[in-house]
Amino acid sequence: MKKIFIYYSLSGNGDTVSNYLKRVGFNSYSIFTYEPLPKNKILSIIVGGFKASINYKDKIEEFGIDLNKYDKIIIGSPIWNSKLSSPINSLLDKIDLTSKNVTFVLYSGSGKENKATELLKRKYNAEVINLKEPKSNNDELIKLDNL
Ligand SMILES: Cc1cc2nc3c(=O)[nH]c(=O)nc-3n(C[C@H](O)[C@H](O)[C@H](O)COP(=O)(O)O)c2cc1C
Repeated sequence: MKKIFIYYSLSGNGDTVSNYLKRVGFNSYSIFTYEPLPKNKILSIIVGGFKASINYKDKIEEFGIDLNKYDKIIIGSPIWNSKLSSPINSLLDKIDLTSKNVTFVLYSGSGKENKATELLKRKYNAEVINLKEPKSNNDELIKLDNL
């Protein structure tokens, strides 16, 4: 079974998930955006939160992977203002997930269900797993064990 984790990470929580899934046989692809958030933390929360609130799609690097080669696709996004991050909005706009076996892994400060969880369940009928800051809470990664 071929499995891939496609994700965006601003501050390393997505990378922690990626490293964990690589150990259980997932390929991993990190999204690169040409529109980084400001380096200042407060400004980055304001700008990223605003982008997420309007479902903004960042300009991202060309996505050249043929998803038909994969039996299982996991998409990872940080939660920004209760919604998906803007690089992942862009990814979802570019790929076709129709009849694909897809699960979303969302990492956030609260680890609770959010607006993105509702949207993804409704739009893709997908399983959604919410993790609370997996970089500093490694036990959260147990939630990924059945993937
Ligand atoms: C712009 C921005 C908005 C955020 N909004 C939320 C939020 O609404 N709820 C929440 O629980 N965490 C929020 N966070 C925290 C991140 O979702 C959390 O730190 C996540 O694990 C970051 O993942 P990363 O390190 O892979 O980028 C926000 C962080 C940023 C930068």
